[in-house]
Amino acid sequence: MSELSERGALRIEWARDHMPVLAAIRESLKQKKTLRGLRIAMALHVEAKTGVLALSLQEAGAKVRLASCNPLSTDDSVASALSEAYGLEVYAKKWETAEEYYANLQKVLDLKPDLVIDDGADLVFLLHTKRTELLSGVRGGNEETTTGIIRLRAMERDGALRFPIVDVNDAQMKHLFDNRYGTGQSTIDGLMTATNLLIAGRTFVVAGYGWTGRGIAMRARGMGARVVVTEVDPVKAIEATMDGFEVLPMSKASRIADFIISATGGKDVLTATHFPRLKDRVVLGNAGHFDNEISKADLDRLSKTKKKVREFVDEYVFPDGKRIHLIAEGRLLNIAAGQGHPVEIMDMSFAIQAVSAGYLADHAAELKPRVYPVPANLDLKVAQLKLRSLGIGIDRLTKEQRTYLESWREGT
Ligand code: NAI
Repeated sequence: MSELSERGALRIEWARDHMPVLAAIRESLKQKKTLRGLRIAMALHVEAKTGVLALSLQEAGAKVRLASCNPLSTDDSVASALSEAYGLEVYAKKWETAEEYYANLQKVLDLKPDLVIDDGADLVFLLHTKRTELLSGVRGGNEETTTGIIRLRAMERDGALRFPIVDVNDAQMKHLFDNRYGTGQSTIDGLMTATNLLIAGRTFVVAGYGWTGRGIAMRARGMGARVVVTEVDPVKAIEATMDGFEVLPMSKASRIADFIISATGGKDVLTATHFPRLKDRVVLGNAGHFDNEISKADLDRLSKTKKKVREFVDEYVFPDGKRIHLIAEGRLLNIAAGQGHPVEIMDMSFAIQAVSAGYLADHAAELKPRVYPVPANLDLKVAQLKLRSLGIGIDRLTKEQRTYLESWREGT
């Protein structure tokens, strides 16, 4: 095995050792032979935890091909180990160009999949636009993230969706932990790896107070930053205020920020309107799915020069001498520059992916081409397995308590 693969194999083994929930689901899928003989096309961030999911599906009898869902998020050592040591077909490399990225998605689709596992809906989008000849063979798909679900719901609304999708993102055991605590911790990890700068005492602006934004704001506060939130939703803005954060419009927040992290899933959060107001040496990063939250086109247009000043940091110098530092080309900084979500978080998210793949294998024929929630009993099963793995016991309702809670007749 090459030295690169050996490093990747160690990472995969470490992750596997810390993913007991996925292990339990893997064993059950193996025993029930649910996935045996199915072809599964996956586009997820190619790193160690994803490797464990892909290998789990393979061990359960599926034929799996894997590409990345982002040109910057591949761990080359893991990609190398997956193909060299485990015989998995992987089409991904870090810093791949946009053309290579789409070519790799195409190669994954050449498998003629029965199921797709997507993160951001690029695979599903390709299937519905450039690879329509494959659509009739696809039984269904899973979607991992908020942005993908937004795209897929739009396809459903337009009557364009041709197969059922399971909305993994909105399972409780996914977004409550992955989007919040996973992105919270790994964004700080990515930021520190990229910059090696101090967070304590600095003004840290988080754009968007959804699941990911909340996690990032919470962890930045924990690191001692003065955290400011920007929002467009009045309810979320009140929530941020009552959680103790200062809420400002970006026009004001951008003037005082030392760090700005976008996590909205929308676009043009930081543009030419804001760049002239920023402080010298401000650090900008994005945790949302696509790289369009911070306008690179505007940065290119307004700046005089651009150069790489650290592995994951580009410095844009403006005509007045001001320097703006952009992390990981405005792509998901927690995965591009950091190590992605903690293993224990992805144990839960990928357990949901695996049970949802099993669910589709068994039930896709009964489903319409719509976006479906993960069945509540499967969400609960993953929660119970996680509790067990943590060694935490909880109470059970007595029969009388259950009757009381379910009855409208009983008063106090
Ligand atoms: P969410 O829907 O819970 O939150 C998004 C928030 O952004 C909402 O409160 C919305 O009102 C706000 N928002 C929208 N446009 C805005 C703007 N222009 N300015 C300020 N606020 C704005 O979504 P969630 O789950 O937090 O996901 C956000 C993004 O992060 C998505 O693209 C999602 O796919 C991605 N994501 C990234 C992860 C990572 O590892 N980096 C993990 C999970 C999700």
